[in-house]
Amino acid sequence: MPTLRERSAAVMPPMALHNLPFGIDHAQGSYLYTDDGRKILDFGSGIAVNNLGHNAPTVVAAAKAQLDKMVHCCHNLFHYEVETALAERIAGLMGSGYKVYFSNSGAEAVEGAVKLAKRATERPAVIAFKGSFHGRTLLCTSLTASNSAYRKHYEGLVPSIYFAEYPKLFGTPYPMADGTCPKQYFTQFDDLFKKLVDPYTVAAIVMEPVQGEGGYVVPPREWVQYVRDICDKYGIMLVFDEVQTGFGRTGNMFAWQTHGVKPDIMACAKGIANGLPLSAVVGKAEVMDRWTAGAHGGTFGANPVSCAAALATIDMLEGGAIENGRHMGEYFMKGLQAITAKYDAVGDLRGLGLMIGMELVYPDGSPNRDLTAQITAKALERDLFLLSCGCDKNVVRFIAPLTVSQEEIDHALSILREVFAEAIEE
Ligand SMILES: Cc1ncc(COP(=O)(O)O)c(C=O)c1O
Repeated sequence: MPTLRERSAAVMPPMALHNLPFGIDHAQGSYLYTDDGRKILDFGSGIAVNNLGHNAPTVVAAAKAQLDKMVHCCHNLFHYEVETALAERIAGLMGSGYKVYFSNSGAEAVEGAVKLAKRATERPAVIAFKGSFHGRTLLCTSLTASNSAYRKHYEGLVPSIYFAEYPKLFGTPYPMADGTCPKQYFTQFDDLFKKLVDPYTVAAIVMEPVQGEGGYVVPPREWVQYVRDICDKYGIMLVFDEVQTGFGRTGNMFAWQTHGVKPDIMACAKGIANGLPLSAVVGKAEVMDRWTAGAHGGTFGANPVSCAAALATIDMLEGGAIENGRHMGEYFMKGLQAITAKYDAVGDLRGLGLMIGMELVYPDGSPNRDLTAQITAKALERDLFLLSCGCDKNVVRFIAPLTVSQEEIDHALSILREVFAEAIEE
């Protein structure tokens, strides 16, 4: 019987990780079970999707019950209970005065959010950030600036998108006094508005509240607030891409709560239904109302099974998973600090909640991609799955499920202690 690896020829996409010797047979809780009999502690969570672990029982039960009731009727045509209930629930999470539109993937939600900003302001231009990742559609590719491979041969992208610097303070080329955010990250907008794009032609500033693919970069709160103030000054929509940060990842339901800065429009996906495909554009009611009939839609949006799973997901998140994730994030961070303090190669350890990144560098401070690859490979040899990220692929990211136990974190830490000793000391 050929293995999954041997049968992989017919399967796209050609991802580097597809060179792994095994495939996945099934998954449960914090673990992946491979087709060659291994049990792997999964600190990748399906790229920040399975925030409640794999196959969270109440989510699976809610999805099964909805399968028997109705799989699809199309939200372009009808209202139905689970879509309405979920919209009410998510709008409620924002406070008052928000509405929700559901689609399927993160890219679709970001695309929808930017379309909505253009529609509401009737302006053409958009500002995004270097280091960003917003998805794979042509508009999202046009907004993405973390890796030129994502854009190669797709040029002739959506016009009038301008890129500003995201404040990555570790390794910043700008002078930094006492750990405060260099002034260039603030003043750059004056320059952009003076030389490149009139602020009154800008529909949206699109930002990840913590940069994901770009290296788990946490911006200073005062800078996020400054961007909010600019948007207010010029009537620009502040769009948060919470696709990766949303649904508990940073220690609150959304990262905007962690920063204390509220967007006009938010895109979310990934953890929303703990693995079933669903995404949402969440916007201020008066902005969403600019989406009149025909302005936006999609056949598969608000799939009833996904909506039922999302309602059960939010129940679990509010019922203790977010709190557990916050505590386990602090515990894990302390453990990582204790293990890595003696290694100069660990240049920066940062994050919010259970969204933790470890940036690895050479003695001269330049990115150490090789060590990053070694750490993730050696961890996997010991049955701990980790992902990397960063524009230079030199950040190890830790995205355990929010339901992770202290024992599982301790186990991961004991593996990492060995891995660091072997990769750096031997
Ligand atoms: C911040 C962010 N935005 C958008 C996306 C795209 O989401 P999807 O792959 O579901 O289209 C991702 C995916 O990694 C993401 O991390």
